[in-house]
Amino acid sequence: MININWEDVIKIRRSARNFQIVEIKTEQLQALKNDIRSIEVPFEHTVECRFFKAKPTKRLYFSMVSPPDNLAFLSETDVVSVSKTGFIGELAILYAQSLGIATCWYGHYKLEELEKCMPHLEKEEDLQTANMGYGYAKGEVEGRRTICITPLGYHNEKGLRMVDRITEKFISYKRKPLEELMISSQSMEFISASVKYALNLARLAPSAANSQHWRFDILNEGKKITIAMPQGYKHLKWEHPNVDIGICASHFWLGLKLQHLKPKITITREHGRAKWTFELGD
Ligand SMILES: Cc1cc2nc3c(=O)[nH]c(=O)nc-3n(C[C@H](O)[C@H](O)[C@H](O)COP(=O)(O)O)c2cc1C
Repeated sequence: MININWEDVIKIRRSARNFQIVEIKTEQLQALKNDIRSIEVPFEHTVECRFFKAKPTKRLYFSMVSPPDNLAFLSETDVVSVSKTGFIGELAILYAQSLGIATCWYGHYKLEELEKCMPHLEKEEDLQTANMGYGYAKGEVEGRRTICITPLGYHNEKGLRMVDRITEKFISYKRKPLEELMISSQSMEFISASVKYALNLARLAPSAANSQHWRFDILNEGKKITIAMPQGYKHLKWEHPNVDIGICASHFWLGLKLQHLKPKITITREHGRAKWTFELGD
């Protein structure tokens, strides 16, 4: 595993929505490309991280000018695959942060513009599945798609618009307390200090519209922890909330690793959603 201070990086990372229009330094981009390939995760997956260039227009990202460098996360579109994409994408995003590269998860990218920058669709009709032009589709579709993208660049805090300042200061930083995220308040008494540490990193994960819809369940006297969204959960605007669950699971996994715990991980589809189960040995 790449040797960086994952805890600090999790705490420092913030979504950036205003970038300097300059390319990323070659050595940084090369480090990012090489090292994210070497990140090992404890489950099988087919997620691809694909780098691409974009022109400095507002066509790709809603209301934001694209920096030259960008990264797309591709996979199949069933709930388990998109959740694994969240997990792997977040490791790449955190690693970028450790190199001083700013990012922002984007689910609502303009599909037609992405296809121009980074041709990836199997057939032209695939463009029609975008939801009012944004993202890959409302639900599951055939084949592999771009689940989310992120700009990669240097944050330009000087040029921030008032609306961005408000989002960054008052929305982006807010996180729910751990107690609010537990399925059962009684389970708090079974949580060891190590698991609590990992849950506290998990709750800092980014989510679309900062909805933080992950819920933690503690079973088998604290030896089994599950992460999933509530059954039947739907967000008004974000069609793929299982991505965010994978992101949260990656923070939890990093937290356990930092505590020298090696959980067995399974990812299953349950009641239409992805469920991450972490089992700790004795
Ligand atoms: C899966 C996912 C999709 C997102 N999509 C968008 C998006 O389309 N547009 C946008 O401006 N922000 C998007 N965001 C960024 C969130 O709004 C942001 O992560 C959240 O408000 C928390 O702020 P932070 O990242 O600064 O901690 C997305 C975040 C996630 C995790």
